[in-house]
Amino acid sequence: MNIVAISGSPRQNGNTEIVIARVLEGMGETADKIIRINDLSIRGCQACKSCRQEGAAGCVIDDDMQTLYPKIIAADVVIIGSPIYYGYLSGQTKCFLDRWYAFRDSKKELRFPEGKKCIFVIVQGAPGRERYEDVISDVRHIFLKYGMDVSIIVADGVEDKGAVLNNDEILQEACFIGREVRRKFDAN
Ligand SMILES: Cc1cc2nc3c(=O)[nH]c(=O)nc-3n(C[C@H](O)[C@H](O)[C@H](O)COP(=O)(O)O)c2cc1C
Repeated sequence: MNIVAISGSPRQNGNTEIVIARVLEGMGETADKIIRINDLSIRGCQACKSCRQEGAAGCVIDDDMQTLYPKIIAADVVIIGSPIYYGYLSGQTKCFLDRWYAFRDSKKELRFPEGKKCIFVIVQGAPGRERYEDVISDVRHIFLKYGMDVSIIVADGVEDKGAVLNNDEILQEACFIGREVRRKFDAN
């Protein structure tokens, strides 16, 4: 099972990374797999639409997203985590996601096969897992449009670095989802 795990939080070993690490643990993988967008140089989409020209190979922006494109294309499972910043995904995560525009070609066909698994982790300081329902809905739609099967984990009420370590329910859910994805993959 080919896994790519990406964190959109700038906080090393923060809540987003802790939850992603639990998902990986459930899959029998280790946290050192986590790629931090904040450590990379990833510009926002420039809307040049070069990726959507006939014969184009993909995005033409020469930055670190070029190292992530092939990893995502090759992945069976894509794990992405983002903290909520001012009611939406972090800027790092949004820049990264906007660059997914290049995963469709001139005929709007996908540049990777349908059926990948996406596990998206949302971490928020405010209590109430339904508080950012609009964000959850946006995330679900983005990945459904890429033919992916989406599971979303919401860790709420975790403000301080590492606070999610006190929330066993979320950590167990993350581990369970990871384990289930591994089990289903191995069964196929
Ligand atoms: C710039 C900024 C904006 C934030 N905005 C929100 C917000 O709108 N709603 C919320 O619930 N938490 C908000 N938070 C809290 C973070 O979502 C929370 O601390 C989260 O645990 C951070 O995850 P991390 O430890 O992985 O970085 C904000 C934090 C920062 C730094």
